[in-house]
Amino acid sequence: MSNRSGNILTVDEAAEKRRSIRKYLPGPIPRSDMDDILRLTGLAPSSFNTQPWRFVVVEDPGTKEKLAEAAYNQRQVVSAPAVIVLYTDMADALATVNEVLPPGMDAAGKENLRSLITNTYGSLAAADREAFGAGQGYIALGYLMLIAEAHGYQTSPMLGFDPEAVKKLLGLPAHVRIPALVAIGKGAEEGFPHHRHSLSRISRYA
Ligand SMILES: Cc1cc2nc3c(=O)[nH]c(=O)nc-3n(C[C@H](O)[C@H](O)[C@H](O)COP(=O)(O)O)c2cc1C
Repeated sequence: MSNRSGNILTVDEAAEKRRSIRKYLPGPIPRSDMDDILRLTGLAPSSFNTQPWRFVVVEDPGTKEKLAEAAYNQRQVVSAPAVIVLYTDMADALATVNEVLPPGMDAAGKENLRSLITNTYGSLAAADREAFGAGQGYIALGYLMLIAEAHGYQTSPMLGFDPEAVKKLLGLPAHVRIPALVAIGKGAEEGFPHHRHSLSRISRYA
């Protein structure tokens, strides 16, 4: 991809620099930048390559105001030039499974894989299947925040919202899950310094 800013951070740099940012500079995000960030986010891995994540980029001020209401008036929703509603739809992923089968695979291989995916997830209760999809969505969330940071944009992930109100506002199907809302833009504050467990507190070798 082209390097528009001329200064894309390494993964290490983006991880060190990223903080949740709740106050943003005004001004729209160029569509090409947003498309780059979302395309790279879509490179995230998922079980059987099901890719159940979907994105609604909310930029319209009136829609953002309503989204803020659904997010308990968290200030970053209105402050950010865009809020990405990251939702997952396993029913759609299963209904369109042909789209994610490897193009280089022969017909028999594709049929086997299609059956495997359909049997694996089709045998789950719908709610469990969608909960599984939401788990995949959090992989995309991690990618999204790091990629945005690397490309000069700050983010604020949010779980503080009423999912039913967000679905109603955006016309999303009732069965989908919303792993997070993500405010995104050029940050206008530093955010809080990292305060994290030590490595020994969270890891061991066996
Ligand atoms: C899934 C998820 C949901 C979160 N929900 C909210 C939220 O609703 N509101 C908020 O202000 N911060 C929210 N946060 C931000 C966390 O509080 C923050 O990531 C954490 O305190 C670490 O700080 P940092 O992101 O600045 O490193 C959320 C973070 C994650 C990953």
